[in-house]
Amino acid sequence: MIFMASFTLQKKIGHVAFIMDGNGRWAKLRGLPRHLGHKRACERLRDVFDCCVEFNIHVASFYAFSTENWNRPQEEIDHLMDYLEDFFHREIDFLMEKGIKVRISGDLSRIREQTRLVCLEAMEKTKDNTGYIANICLNYGGRDEIVKASKRIAEEYKQGKISLDSINEESFKAYLYTAGLPDVDLMIRTSGEQRLSNYLLYENAYAEFVFTKVKWPDFDRKAFIDCLKEYQKRDRRFGGLKNE
Ligand code: IPE
Ligand code: IPE
Ligand code: MG
Repeated sequence: MIFMASFTLQKKIGHVAFIMDGNGRWAKLRGLPRHLGHKRACERLRDVFDCCVEFNIHVASFYAFSTENWNRPQEEIDHLMDYLEDFFHREIDFLMEKGIKVRISGDLSRIREQTRLVCLEAMEKTKDNTGYIANICLNYGGRDEIVKASKRIAEEYKQGKISLDSINEESFKAYLYTAGLPDVDLMIRTSGEQRLSNYLLYENAYAEFVFTKVKWPDFDRKAFIDCLKEYQKRDRRFGGLKNE
């Protein structure tokens, strides 16, 4: 029997966002090709979903591929797409069983057709699930998202569909890839890097950031709980005064 330490999350988290980093270094440390780090990374997702269910976190975002990741060798990009497809094929029953709805944030038009179809299929199959949301950020860039949103707003304004007065911080969100999702409460980046790398720029405005040295392929329930414990120590003020 595996002993699982119990942990109760005291502070509600509506949206956790992960920057799944360190796959390449994880592989290199073991003398393996980088892509095997990505393979292992995709295999970690099931445990993370289980934790989200256990801790009642209804929305989880995952940075799978950034708009800057096109700068990598084509072979590595192909492997990443292969593993993403494998993930959806392997885990679709699990996602259904847990009531997880798949969303994709990002510009799918540049993603190879085969992968795009697998993503669209996963979204279609899970569209009526209401329990949880897995928001996969694929060919996602925070700046790209904001620019695209601005263009759509400009277009609607030009066509007379919206007025200038109706554009505000809240209504702007409806034009983002993440429309309808709550703001990020907790942003976790693995592997020790401490930067945002163009991730959920609008949505992370008041998120708490937790950086862990654990590389994503090693990110397990214990590592997740350590991040949650760190989050619980934070005092979120949103520009107001300290909660005494
Ligand atoms: C994160 O791991 C996965 C993607 C960016 C797709 P990396 O591939 O960036 O791993 P490191 O940072 O090189 O170790
Ligand atoms: C961010 O990681 C993107 C993903 C995890 C998909 P990177 O490894 O690409 O980011 P940088 O280059 O270290 O900033
Ligand atoms: Mg990296």
